[in-house]
Amino acid sequence: MEIRKVGVLGCGLMGSGIAQVAAGAGFETVVREVSDDLIKKGFGGIEKSLAKFAEKGTITAEQQGEIRNRLSGTTSFEELSDCDIIIEAIIENLEEKRKTYQQLDGLCKPETIFASNTSSISITEMMTTTSPERQQRFIGLHFFNPVPLMKLVEVVRTILTDESIYEQAVEFARRLGKVPVRAGDKSGFIVNRLLVPYMLDSIRALEEGVGSIEDIDTSMKLGLGYPMGPFTLGDFVGLDTTYYIAEIMFNEFREKRFAPPPLLKRMVLAGLYGRKSGRGFYDYTKDPKNPTPMKLI
Ligand SMILES: NC(=O)c1ccc[n+]([C@@H]2O[C@H](COP(=O)([O-])OP(=O)(O)OC[C@H]3O[C@@H](n4cnc5c(N)ncnc54)[C@H](O)[C@@H]3O)[C@@H](O)[C@H]2O)c1
Repeated sequence: MEIRKVGVLGCGLMGSGIAQVAAGAGFETVVREVSDDLIKKGFGGIEKSLAKFAEKGTITAEQQGEIRNRLSGTTSFEELSDCDIIIEAIIENLEEKRKTYQQLDGLCKPETIFASNTSSISITEMMTTTSPERQQRFIGLHFFNPVPLMKLVEVVRTILTDESIYEQAVEFARRLGKVPVRAGDKSGFIVNRLLVPYMLDSIRALEEGVGSIEDIDTSMKLGLGYPMGPFTLGDFVGLDTTYYIAEIMFNEFREKRFAPPPLLKRMVLAGLYGRKSGRGFYDYTKDPKNPTPMKLI
């Protein structure tokens, strides 16, 4: 089966980027969100990103229009029923994801490939909510933020994934202009297995008074040549998402290095999610380009 039509679940930070990239690669793309307002918000972000690419000359005004025409938004599951692949990028919550997959399994054609963009939930735990046939067509496609710019996609297989479906998914990632790497179904896959303990340790260092938010960020940037420090990165990823990922990885491995520090939990409870909510380790509300560090300790 050739992949022609792509369905995306969720039009948040990741879903909007994945939809933009799929439409940009020439696929008819339909995105499902829970409300019209959230579709509007997500599509607003896509418009802005496309305008930036057009300004830079990466795409022409004509291509910008064509990409827009390939994209549509919906609040119904039915409109995804004839998609060849569905990429799910909803909230990092196992129950919510399982509920969604169960609903879609009954609606989609038997050939449809299900792919999750989860950062930490095991693909196996999600796939078992679907029929035995679908389980062979169930994979992980883990993109990175911001999706239109980041080249990597981790392509994840379970012990039941059909070999030809897996190879098709690797090829699909290439068609999206990405560089695929192969990963097994272990919570966090390759990148988050290494990144999450580092991010959590940075928060512990802050809690212990090793350095300030700015000094820890500056150290990792200038001392190691990282493009941004751990707190800037956390605000960018979303601290709610980071917290959910850490909880899931801790439950999976039962190792202290994956345990979310108390400060992270308090920040999430207080609604400090990072850039998307205006405040996280930094305050973006006054001058988003020059955010000021928050007083958290
Ligand atoms: N933020 C990152 O850097 C990053 C990177 C890679 C992977 N991920 C993964 O991508 C997924 C989404 O993360 P995000 O950062 O885009 O979160 P987000 O909070 O920005 O977006 C999630 C969106 O999903 C929507 N949603 C919730 N339930 C839904 C449903 N049943 N159907 C359709 N839409 C629904 C929400 O309304 C929200 O707009 C998570 O699994 C996360 O772990 C995130």
